[in-house]
This record gives sequence, structure tokens and C-alpha cells, in this order.
Amino acid sequence: MASVLVFQGTVIHSIDSETLKILDNATLVVTDGRITALHKSTNDLPSDSFPPNASIHRLPPHDFLIPGFVDTHNHAPQWPMRGLGQGLHILDWLNEITFPVEARFADPAYATSIYEHTVEDFLRQGITTASYYSSRHREGTKILAEICHRKGQRAFVGKCNMDRNAPDYIQEESASVSLRETEECIQHIRGLSKNDHQEHLVKPVVTPRFAISCTPELLQGLGEIVKRDDALAIQTHFNEAQQEIDATTELFPQFAGSEADLYESYGLLNARSILAHCTIMTDYEKERIHSLDCGVAHCPIANMTVGGGFMVAPVRDFLRRGIKVGLGTDSGGGWASGMLAVMRQAMIASNAREVLSEGKDKALSFEETFYLATLGGAKVLCLEDRIGNFQVGKEFDAVWVTTTTGLQSAMTPREDGDSPRRVFEKYIMTGDDRNVAQVYVRGRKVAGTR
Ligand code: GUN
Ligand code: FE
Repeated sequence: MASVLVFQGTVIHSIDSETLKILDNATLVVTDGRITALHKSTNDLPSDSFPPNASIHRLPPHDFLIPGFVDTHNHAPQWPMRGLGQGLHILDWLNEITFPVEARFADPAYATSIYEHTVEDFLRQGITTASYYSSRHREGTKILAEICHRKGQRAFVGKCNMDRNAPDYIQEESASVSLRETEECIQHIRGLSKNDHQEHLVKPVVTPRFAISCTPELLQGLGEIVKRDDALAIQTHFNEAQQEIDATTELFPQFAGSEADLYESYGLLNARSILAHCTIMTDYEKERIHSLDCGVAHCPIANMTVGGGFMVAPVRDFLRRGIKVGLGTDSGGGWASGMLAVMRQAMIASNAREVLSEGKDKALSFEETFYLATLGGAKVLCLEDRIGNFQVGKEFDAVWVTTTTGLQSAMTPREDGDSPRRVFEKYIMTGDDRNVAQVYVRGRKVAGTR
């Protein structure tokens, strides 16, 4: 018999970048993990609308359902170093803080113990989908994918490729070893789900760390893997900081400073490419990534803490041009473990951009920011047919948010007479994981205290 979940109460989701729908008396029906009905009003439903086995959840007034957050850029092995090395420039931050931490993931026991907490922590915050960089270690990468699979998080997991310009203790032995291990991880991840009738929740992603840490031979080999496989996603860091751009230009002078040309020439740019940061972009590069349909993982916390000062990605211009944009925690690159912090910083960054552009690039609205954290991210990951909002036919990835009138959480207390919109805004701007009652991925409860 089909499993049926019914939720009655306030449902909030984005229809597009500017349209936020708040249905304050809705009924949402989930059958075997998929949304099969969304009634705007609960009042006109006949009492026998649901099968007898349906599990019915009535949300208290001022609680609400939102789509699960989509984190388009997350370094899982950096979870235990979040917040460290603030203010360092990117290459110094990698050498001083990041590589010593990632090196510890050579030990499968360490990887297992940390990744258990990592995945649980992101789920607990309502991140139902994440695109993860693992460390460069094969076993650790498999462990991360297995943990996502077991805990039920929707995820992309990529073994990080890095065969040069890193200390010996973390650099890969050669391009050929890196490529062989990458293929092994891809196969392993695809073998995790035994159910071939359903799209796999955990998928592989090709993950060259960035051009600086990859030899041309490695980039070439990764491009060949991508060319042979039109289901594979790709992720890398792209135009993150001036120090990184200068070093890349020195290593690859033939591309004259264009990372778009660089990655495209190796066959790494297509509609499944997730480009992290994109802070310093020429019009030419914006035009290239748009015509190649690449997505941008905007990581405003990382951009303003590690990496090189105060970098503000031109998100308004990306949206104006129709470039896909989502948000990323970046995990260790900054201090965020949750998307609420990233959304707040995205708004701050966009205010800065408005000033820096002398008013030309208007700041992001609240609606747009929520869109980026949900449906926008789903588009970047090419998952918009499955997740991102509560359109009938999509899979049910959701957060049940609860709110209080007192001091039980950090969130601005709700008050009598607050509209659903007002409570929602209080949650986004001041809430935290204490407001997460339940988290669902494809209809399965994966986190929550209720
Ligand atoms: N560029 C190359 N590696 C990294 C990383 O781990 N984090 C960030 N923010 N940028 C990078
Ligand atoms: Fe990153």
C-alpha cells in the first residue's frame, strides 16, 4: 500500500525568483515521497479525502512548511574547521588551515566519525540537498557518500582532485592515480542505491579543486570522463579571489586571465557545472558561462571572510542575464553551517553591491534571497524538476519550522496578530536550528526533534 503523508497548515514556497507564495490554510499530500496534491484551502476538502492509512500532521498556527534548503557548495571535510583562519588570503588559508585538516581524512576512522556529525548537522539545519567536495581521499569520499545515503540526504559527492601545488602530505601522487580513483568513486556512488526504478538521491560529481591544484593532464582526463557521461555533474572554484586569479593566469598564460576559456577548453563547462564564488567576472566570462548554461554557487560568507578581503559577487547581474544562481555555505570557507546565515549574508553582500555599483545593481529582495536558497539552488544542480518548491509532481523535501512566543529560541518571538509573512521573516532573519521541528527528504523524515 502506498505511504501517504498529509500536512495541513501554512505552506511557503517560491514560484520564481520574485514570487513567494504563502498559503496559510493549505493541505499538502505526499504519496510515496512525491507531492500528489496541494490544496490552497483545507476547508473545502471532504473528510474522506485521504486513505485510511494516511498519516495526518496538523501544523499549529504559526508553524509552517518550507522547501528544504539546497546548499550548492559545501566542503564536508572542512566542517570541523569552520570559523578558522578568518582574514587570510585564499592560498595562505589553504596552506595554513585547510590542507592540514583535510589531510586527516586519509584515516577512514576519522572520516567516518566526522562525516557522521557533518551530515547530521547539515540535515538538522534543514539542508536537504548538498553538493559536497570530499577531501582527495578515495576511501573518505566513499564513506561520505555512504553516510549521505544512509541518513537520507540528497547529495552530490565528489572526490577532490589535486595533483599539484599542495604539500606532499595531501597532494595526489599523479594525474593517472587521481583519475583512476575518481572513476572508482563515481562507480561506487552509483552502486549505493539498489533501487534502479528511482533516481538515486546521492550522485557523483567531478571535482577538480581549482585549476591551480590540477595539472593540464588531470584537467584533460577529467574532461574526458565528463564527455563520456552526460549525467555527471562538475564542480570547481571559479574566479574566487584576485590572488587565485593571478596564480591561475601565471600557470595558464594561454587563457589570458579567462577561467571561462580555461575550464571550457578542458571540457568542464556545461549545464551541469557548478561554479563556486564567481566574484570577479568580466562581461565576457559572464556571457560565456551563460551561454554554456553553467550555474553559480554564491558563497557570500566565504567571500567576505576568507579568500582576500571583501569580495562581492555580481549576483544581480547574473540574475539579469538569466544565469542560474544558488547559495552555498562553503562550510570551512567562512563560519556557516546553515543556510539562514548564508541568506542573511547574501542580503548584506547585495547591499554592498548596490553601493559599489552606484545603484545600478539593486540589492536582493527577501523573496529573491529565499528563492536562491531553495529553487535557485535546485536549478543550479539541475534538480528543479524534482525539488525546490512544492509543485505537484515534485519530491517532498521540506522543513517544518516551528516558532515560539518566548525565549526558547533566538528567533524574534512571534506575537498575537503576526501575519504568516511576518513570522516567516522573523524566522529567516533571526531563527536557527531550534526552530526546525522536522526535516524530510523524498518523504522520509531525516531530522527533527518532533
Ligand atoms: N579554492 C580551492 N580550494 C578551496 C577551498 O577549499 N575553499 C575555498 N573557499 N576556495 C578554494
Ligand atoms: Fe569552496
